[in-house]
Amino acid sequence: MGLKDPFPAPRWHGRYDMIPAGHGEQGGMKLQGQVIWITGASSGVGEGMARVFHREGASLVLSARRQAELERVKASCQGPGTIDILPFDICDAAARAAAAQEVLSRHPRLDVLVNNAGIGQRAAARDTTLDVVRRIMEIDFFAPVALAGLVLPRMIEQQSGRFVVTSSVAGKHAVPHHSAYCAAKHALHGYFDTLRVEHLRDNIHVTLLVIAGIRSNVFRHALTGSGAEYGPSSWDNRNGMPAEDCAALVVDGMLANEQELVIGIDQALQAMRLRERDPQAFLERMAGMMQWLESR
Ligand SMILES: NC(=O)c1ccc[n+]([C@@H]2O[C@H](COP(=O)([O-])OP(=O)(O)OC[C@H]3O[C@@H](n4cnc5c(N)ncnc54)[C@H](OP(=O)(O)O)[C@@H]3O)[C@@H](O)[C@H]2O)c1
Repeated sequence: MGLKDPFPAPRWHGRYDMIPAGHGEQGGMKLQGQVIWITGASSGVGEGMARVFHREGASLVLSARRQAELERVKASCQGPGTIDILPFDICDAAARAAAAQEVLSRHPRLDVLVNNAGIGQRAAARDTTLDVVRRIMEIDFFAPVALAGLVLPRMIEQQSGRFVVTSSVAGKHAVPHHSAYCAAKHALHGYFDTLRVEHLRDNIHVTLLVIAGIRSNVFRHALTGSGAEYGPSSWDNRNGMPAEDCAALVVDGMLANEQELVIGIDQALQAMRLRERDPQAFLERMAGMMQWLESR
C-alpha cells in the first residue's frame, strides 16, 4: 500500500479568472468591508494580493519602499474599497512605528496585517558574510515580528484580527544557497505559531503561507554572499503560478481559518513531500541541487 501523501496538492479551484463575472456585485464579496494592511505590495505576491483582496471588497493599506510602484499597483486595483499608499523601509524602526501609527489612526479597526515583504538569498553558507545573514534575518524575521507587535494591541482591543505571514517551502526544509533565508522563514513559524496560541482567546488568528514558485522578482532581488543584488538570470520564476491565483487561494484560506496554507506549482512542492516520505532521498536531491547550482 502506498504512503499517504502528507502534503496533498494545493487546491487550484480558486483561480481568480474562473470566478463568474458579476461575482460580488450582489453582496458576494469575500472580504467585504475588511481593512487589510499588506507589506511588500509593490511587486509579486503582495501585488497579487492587493488586486484580489481589493476586488473582494477589502479596503487596503499598501506598503513597500517604492512609492511609484505602489501607485501603479493602486491604479490597477478595481474594487470598491479605499486604498492608502504608505511607503516605508520595513527595516527602519522609526519608520515602522510611524507607519503603524498612521494606519491605526486612519482606520478605527484593522482586520488583517499581511506580513509579506521579504528578500531572498543566492549564495552558499560558506560564502555568506554574517552581515548578510543579519540583513536577511532583519527583513525576513525581525521586521515582520516588530510590525505585528505594533498592531497587536489594537487587535487585542477589538478582540479580532489576523496575521497572514508569507513563509516559504524554505520555512519547512533546507534549500541550498538559502541558509539565512531558511533560518528566517523557519523562525517565522516558531514565532507566529506561538502568537496564534497566545491570542486564540482574543480571537486573533495566524495564517502562514508556505509558498513556492509564484511569479515575482524574488530571485532578481535576492542577496549574494557579499550583499549585492543577484540581478536578472535564467533561473527565475517567470513560469510560476500567477500571483493573483495564489492570492485567490489565500482569500479562501483566510475564510476557512487555515493555520497554514501550502500554495505553489507542483514542481516546487515536490521536495517538501519527498522530505516527509524519505529524508535520505531528500538530502541526496538537495545535494544534487547544490551541485547543479554551483556548476552554473
Ligand atoms: N515568489 C515565490 O515563489 C516565493 C516563494 C516563497 C516565499 N516567497 C516570499 O514571498 C514574499 C514576497 O516576495 P515576492 O516573491 O513577491 O518577491 P518580490 O517580487 O521581490 O517582492 C518583494 C516585496 O518586498 C518588498 N520589500 C523588500 N525589502 C523591503 C524593505 N526593506 N522594506 C519594505 N519593503 C520591502 C519589495 O518592495 P520594495 O522593493 O518596493 O521595497 C516587494 O514589494 C517574500 O516574503 C518572499 O520570501 C515568495
